[in-house]
Amino acid sequence: MPFQLEPLNVDNIHEHIFERYTQLVSLSDEVSQDLGIHQKTNIVHVDIEPPLHARNKREKLNCLESYNFIIEQSLSGLYSSSNGNSTTGYVLWSTTPAFIQWLLYDPNAYELRKGGSVKTIGTSIARSIPAMFSGKQSTGIVELGSGVSGILPVILGNHVDYYICTDQRGILNKMKHNIRENISQLNRRHCLSQSMGITSGEDREEPAGNAVNLEIMLLDWEKFQLKDGTCYPDLYFLAQKSSTVYIVAMDVIYNDFLIDPFLKTLSQIRDYFIQKKLQTHCLIGIHLRAEDMVANFLEKAVLQYRLPVNHVVDSFLESTRFSLYYI
Ligand SMILES: C[S@@+](CC[C@H](N)C(=O)[O-])C[C@H]1O[C@@H](n2cnc3c(N)ncnc32)[C@H](O)[C@@H]1O
Repeated sequence: MPFQLEPLNVDNIHEHIFERYTQLVSLSDEVSQDLGIHQKTNIVHVDIEPPLHARNKREKLNCLESYNFIIEQSLSGLYSSSNGNSTTGYVLWSTTPAFIQWLLYDPNAYELRKGGSVKTIGTSIARSIPAMFSGKQSTGIVELGSGVSGILPVILGNHVDYYICTDQRGILNKMKHNIRENISQLNRRHCLSQSMGITSGEDREEPAGNAVNLEIMLLDWEKFQLKDGTCYPDLYFLAQKSSTVYIVAMDVIYNDFLIDPFLKTLSQIRDYFIQKKLQTHCLIGIHLRAEDMVANFLEKAVLQYRLPVNHVVDSFLESTRFSLYYI
């Protein structure tokens, strides 16, 4: 069954949080209880592969898509206190691999990959979901708080026309390094990137005419001011060239102090693309740590920022320690 959307409002946020955390208690033997650092080593191997039961079917269809990343992260950077909150970006957090595993391989996520309609809980109305992967329509992704891993840009770069990774300054060089190290796996499209100096992919085999623009951009939520896009040419070009955009953020709600700057940034970018007439949606993955903080985030998003937040209800996601929200 495809995932469903549960619209959140002032009346049901607390019930939603209660249910989700009660589910977590019942899963306490299966889901990890740690803070969510994917692996505590400076070199991390991450395999993103179809689950075993899906593999045979996919092999028959000859469309097996799997990825093996080697990522350099910095545990000393994570624990250093010199750079405030941005230090969390020095390592990979487990929400990202869980999200991409679901998005790529789960039959219930098909409507997100390819477009379709899904049920909205509490109403009889089916909700239309624009495809995240480009097909007839050209699509782009803006990722907020990408961190150093480069997993999402490399994988999703195979499926979209535009991908913009963003984070604070201290994170960007390591992110670029990891993207370069793993870029051979972005092999379904010709990759162009001004920020990484990639102007041609002649050394690789890509389908002709099929390209992704992959850019790395400094974007600090505490300083971000978007007036008309002229200061952010990458956002401007994405808006010119795409008809659908997804703003994606994985595990960025972990500190009360960052909730307002994050929501302000998200709202500005969302409004900008809506104004430019793009189909605009956001996917926010939250690693469930402090209950109060998740409640605070959802309340602010719904009440103060007036964002149409939906909980993504799905059997796989419910078996993990993270929740996904669709705006
Ligand atoms: C817990 S990490 C998650 C990183 C990555 N999304 C992942 O799943 O591995 C939180 C991310 O938010 C970023 N971040 C924190 N404060 C920020 C700010 N003020 N502006 C932009 N990014 C920020 C951090 O640098 C970090 O990359």
